[in-house]
Amino acid sequence: MKKTWRNLTAQAELISSKRTIDLFDDNRLEQLSVSSNGIFIDFSKNKLNSSIVDDLVALAKECELSKAINAMFAGETINCTEQRAVMHFLLRAENSDLPEWKEVFEQRQKAIEFAQKIRNENLLGATGKVIDTIVNIGIGGSDLGPRLVIDAFKHHVPKVLNIHFMSDVDYSESAQLLDSINLETTLFILCSKSFTTWETQTNAQLAISALKEKVGEAGWQRHFAGVAVDQQAMTDFGIIPEHQFLIWDWVGGRYSVWSSIGLVARIALGNDIFDRFLAGAREMDQHFQQTPFEQNLPVLLAMVQIWNINFMNHSVFITLPYRHGLRLFPDYQQQLEMESNGKSVDTNGDIMAYHTCPYIFGQLGLNAQHAFMQLVHQSTHNTYLEFIAVPEKAVPFEDDVAFRSCLAQSSALMKGTLDIDSGAKHCPGDRPSTTLVLDEMSPETLGGLVALYEHKVFVQSVIWGINAFDQFGVELGKQIAKSLTKESTDNTAIDGSTRELIRRFGH
Ligand code: F6P
Repeated sequence: MKKTWRNLTAQAELISSKRTIDLFDDNRLEQLSVSSNGIFIDFSKNKLNSSIVDDLVALAKECELSKAINAMFAGETINCTEQRAVMHFLLRAENSDLPEWKEVFEQRQKAIEFAQKIRNENLLGATGKVIDTIVNIGIGGSDLGPRLVIDAFKHHVPKVLNIHFMSDVDYSESAQLLDSINLETTLFILCSKSFTTWETQTNAQLAISALKEKVGEAGWQRHFAGVAVDQQAMTDFGIIPEHQFLIWDWVGGRYSVWSSIGLVARIALGNDIFDRFLAGAREMDQHFQQTPFEQNLPVLLAMVQIWNINFMNHSVFITLPYRHGLRLFPDYQQQLEMESNGKSVDTNGDIMAYHTCPYIFGQLGLNAQHAFMQLVHQSTHNTYLEFIAVPEKAVPFEDDVAFRSCLAQSSALMKGTLDIDSGAKHCPGDRPSTTLVLDEMSPETLGGLVALYEHKVFVQSVIWGINAFDQFGVELGKQIAKSLTKESTDNTAIDGSTRELIRRFGH
């Protein structure tokens, strides 16, 4: 065990019997907050003090975090199980010495021109009509990122453009969507890094069948674009070269919104807004690389969460954005964090003796308050929370329902009802939380926020000794799904429950 880890364990024992509210003095917020890139982070409502933060920073140093950061930005093969570099930062770079940069730049230019062509109403379908409807077919990282960005800035989508997403496979839903749009003016973007994802391929085939009926056997190709690593697979599928967009195996699906996986967002919001989103992330990359750990947003956010998980023993983490434009952020964050660090084997292949990524859930803060927050205030379980607020500039503080409520929640959760004789009204308090306050809801801040969490995940993976960039657990479910057929009811390798469910309900 690392020396600093032992120190932190001792610090945890000392502080656990205290109440966080009692740790406050006039300087606490000043000492336990950090601000940069339009994001202010308040750690003061966590059960910790400056000396614990110093030790957390020391732990990061002891784990050679700087070396790991440099290795990632140098394009080294840090995805050790799949023997790949991890270079999503390159997708938002302005320039780079890395050899991959040239292709990144070319593909970005291609996406920029394609998006502009559609926005200029110059892309025509097979029957000569202008394309005005885009359907993104993708799932996981090929869906959540573009969905988040478009939803955040949906007021900027021109009224003439209709944007839809197909991710889930539900035959009646798909039929309804395909019936409700004008296929002659629709472009489907088959967004799939691997180009083999079952759900995505199934939805693509449904779209192609519908298109063939409407625009003829060959015409469907004018209505399809593709984003994938394997160019040949796109060609074999029938996607015409001008509609093919490349990504690379060094981009994890959940880190890919910055690439042509974000094409639908480029089209919907325009190149300017999408490039500003990239710029915000790029600035966060610079901050992450250049700022001492004591002031480094991703490092501190990661380390304070590690404190809550590994030393304060919280295994549930709730994320609550208090701005409508961020309502999809919890979905995005769930994949980013849980698919990256939801692991129990370290990079040496050893089973870990400590907890890693917690269960994460969340939704819009105001909605959560009227749904599940009762449990958070009064249940027997303790929980760690992150609040993300964007104060309204258009109204005075008194009318800023979201921001006021956000502050009220974190305060109530920390203080509880100090009177333990309050019976059914008793709230134990001492629920730790971190509050992030964004300057504004701009493409730059959203880019910075997403990159902040990407880097937070990376920092945690280094401390826990995880490869954050594979996802073999997901693969296991996929393999089994493929093996389940009507015939498999005789296959004794499949468990009895599953076989019987297929026999009874599989049509
Ligand atoms: O859920 C597993 C996963 O591989 C994710 O990592 C990825 O974002 C998603 O499936 C979709 O994959 P693809 O882009 O290859 O279709």
